[in-house]
Amino acid sequence: MSRDIASLYAPAAAGGPPLFFPSPERPIFFNFDQGNPDPATYPLDLLERLSHEVLEEVGGDALSYFDPDTGYEELVYGFRGLRTALADRLNVRDGRDFDADNLILTSGAVQALSLAARAFAGPGDAVFIEAVTFPYASSFLAGTGAEVVAVPVDADGLDVRALDDAIAAAAARGLRPKLVYTIATFQLPTGMSMPHARRERLLELADRHDLVVIEDNVYYDLRYDGESPPTLLSMDETGLVMQSDSFSKTVAPGLRLGWMVGHPDVIGGLAAVREDLGVSQFLARVMARYLEGGHHGPQVATLQDVYRAKRDAAVTALQEHCSEYLTFRVPEGSFFLWLELGDGVDWDRAAEAVQREGVFCRPGERFTDDGSGRQFLRLAFSLPSVDEITQGIAALGRALRDSST
Ligand SMILES: Cc1ncc(COP(=O)(O)O)c(C=O)c1O
Repeated sequence: MSRDIASLYAPAAAGGPPLFFPSPERPIFFNFDQGNPDPATYPLDLLERLSHEVLEEVGGDALSYFDPDTGYEELVYGFRGLRTALADRLNVRDGRDFDADNLILTSGAVQALSLAARAFAGPGDAVFIEAVTFPYASSFLAGTGAEVVAVPVDADGLDVRALDDAIAAAAARGLRPKLVYTIATFQLPTGMSMPHARRERLLELADRHDLVVIEDNVYYDLRYDGESPPTLLSMDETGLVMQSDSFSKTVAPGLRLGWMVGHPDVIGGLAAVREDLGVSQFLARVMARYLEGGHHGPQVATLQDVYRAKRDAAVTALQEHCSEYLTFRVPEGSFFLWLELGDGVDWDRAAEAVQREGVFCRPGERFTDDGSGRQFLRLAFSLPSVDEITQGIAALGRALRDSST
């Protein structure tokens, strides 16, 4: 085939398909790259049993576009039974009074973020993100034509004073401050969480400026020590806060089942821009049974033990093999360590040496919009076994030693 099909792409596709990492020429022995859960934690037997029950007891309705009793709304918002079960869980955890109308089901939390970006941001708006953040969210926001403003983060997450200044600066340039995206708990990639008082100040700012707040909450339940601060959503009295979440990190990412929770008018905005025909009825029914059967609490408790052990192994190995070359803070949860390389490390040589050792971490600049962050590495400890973590970090230490002055 010799035709240049790519020349026919519309502007939206002009960049071509995404590039995938790592390259096949570089074998990976120690994969610390993505935030992949450990497949050994997927509740296979339980999901098999619940799937069987759904097919046997519900029959064909479980494989239809929507539940005939509920109707077309499920094509947009998703299976009502799962929305109700999720609302019930949030009401217990966060002390709210939500029901199904506060939720829309999505293909992972990523789709919830994409819908929120399109529903609330556009040309003439200023939208605020953390200076290092989840790259999908920043690219969705950039794709709306809004101006994306990066706000610094520190050990307490998003710097709310800097956000205040950035809002004023954007307004002075004639932009409308519209939205802030924050991973308030276990910020990605830094792993740090915003303390209660800073959360209050963020909500005050949102209230004062009519700023929509997207709280990305996918790691919230993966806490291994310390106390959980209240979610922004649980503290909100304005209706401006929405919270994205999913089963990806706590049950299995291949389910592709996520949601956004918020005021029904916020959720209505997301519904207005939805272009597909909802999420799988079948899977949503399986996951409704999973929640109704009380399986989520024990599942999360198991994950906390598994990932705590992995985090501790990673921290011990880093202290033993890498402490001369990098520094880091120990996160109380989530899947990542954010490593800051010392001045003595020649990063170009280190990148080469690390790959030679078959170690794959994510370079810090992947989390910024301006290419900064080169002196950082994000190490995901969720997927490898404890043994692989220990050996992989020893290999990382060798590569850093060979690239240091
Ligand atoms: C911060 C953050 N938000 C959202 C997601 C989206 O996950 P999913 O679409 O699988 O729910 C991820 C996954 O890596 C993430 O790290």
